[in-house]
Amino acid sequence: MTDAANISVDGHNDDYAVLAGSVGPEVIDIRKLYAKTGRFTFDPGFTSTAACESKITYIDGDEGILLYRGYPIDELAENSTFMDVAHLLLNGELPNPAQSAKFNHDITRHTMIHEQLAQFYRGFRRDAHPMAIMCGVVGAMAAFYHDSTDIHDPHQRMVASHRLIAKMPTLAAMAYKYSVGQPFLYPDNSLSFAGNFLRMTFGVPAEPYVIDPVVEDAMEKLLILQADHEQNASTSTVRLAGSSGANPFACISAGIACLWGPAHGGANEAALNMLREIGTVDRIPEFIARAKNKDDPFRLMGFGHRVYKNYDPRAKVMAKVAKNVLDKLGISDPIFDVARELERIALSDPYFIEKKLYPNVDFYSGVVMSAIGFPTSMFTVLFAVSRTVGWIAQWTEMMEDPEQKIGRPRQLYTGPAKRDFVPLDKR
Ligand code: ACO
Repeated sequence: MTDAANISVDGHNDDYAVLAGSVGPEVIDIRKLYAKTGRFTFDPGFTSTAACESKITYIDGDEGILLYRGYPIDELAENSTFMDVAHLLLNGELPNPAQSAKFNHDITRHTMIHEQLAQFYRGFRRDAHPMAIMCGVVGAMAAFYHDSTDIHDPHQRMVASHRLIAKMPTLAAMAYKYSVGQPFLYPDNSLSFAGNFLRMTFGVPAEPYVIDPVVEDAMEKLLILQADHEQNASTSTVRLAGSSGANPFACISAGIACLWGPAHGGANEAALNMLREIGTVDRIPEFIARAKNKDDPFRLMGFGHRVYKNYDPRAKVMAKVAKNVLDKLGISDPIFDVARELERIALSDPYFIEKKLYPNVDFYSGVVMSAIGFPTSMFTVLFAVSRTVGWIAQWTEMMEDPEQKIGRPRQLYTGPAKRDFVPLDKR
């Protein structure tokens, strides 16, 4: 371990502490840099900046490793339920059987939403994007659950966390039901988290909904894989919103807005649309050529990642889930063949090898969600349902951090220096 980093500015040398995490690169503590040198650092996109300390999720992008509280993502996806993973992310440990039962109970007793909140949906156009609806209704939760908006009360913070995790599937399924003109279904607390979500989305009041165990299992895995991903754009947005003392419903709504973008959560929708546009294996070279052409803004959606410069470990699990779902449901979808062939060609192409562009989680998640029956507009909504667990775990960690401060980046100003006001008739 390095003890200190020496930074020299204008001939003055100063030592800055070097902090070590439990694993991963050390970080240089530059909190006193401005006071000592009168200089800021310039790091748009935070490519070299750690904005917080966290114990929740660890990524080694070069090795393609993702750990939730120390557990590899593939082991959790293979062996755990989404609810136990939620307990792990929120509380630090996998639950024992009694804790698991209690956590399930605590969540399920919050699955219904205030009946008045259901009225909000009628204000939206039927063709509204469900992410637009989610931004609105999740933010509006703050107007309904006043007894869990005191961020300084640990009990209220916990209740807000449970409410958000429990109500997200209900709100998401309602966004879908509204778009297809079917009645909303109330939650069924006897079902698993994934099973209940599937029933609220695809069930109708006229007949019982039979849950396909293959689909339920795929849904659980999908939820687990996307539950947290350290300080990504939407999580950082939640932390930044929370740093001002905003209530958790407002903060998660901010996270949903950020997740919506095609460079982040919207990539799964974009990836599936791209696979459909390619359509057949023989058209792949044309799209690879476009992705490599500097003058063409086209990118291979579902490829590349800010942190992973290796195979995204979630993509490996997701590829298996996709194959399993398509095989077991007897769906022969040509886009899966396109996806596999595109992956094979891209991974052997020098452009993608040199730039370390590998498939990310979104490359196969769209295939899975489409096979389950979700329209593309719901993909990012599902991501939000899952990521709410990570967002709220990160928000809680921040609220409990004694070093927490309002987030306030600095800037390199390149606009006009001070100048005199010119009256309108002289301009
Ligand atoms: N297709 C073609 N070329 C690409 C791609 C791609 N998907 N991704 C990156 N590149 C190229 C860039 O053109 C750039 O080339 P250059 O060095 O010649 O200029 C180089 O690779 C580095 O790319 P950056 O954009 O600088 O990398 P950054 O870390 O900023 O971007 C991102 C990461 C946004 C994910 C990018 O790879 C991308 O747009 N991918 C497609 C969208 C996508 O799949 N997003 C999902 C992310 S995962 C998630 O949110 C769950």
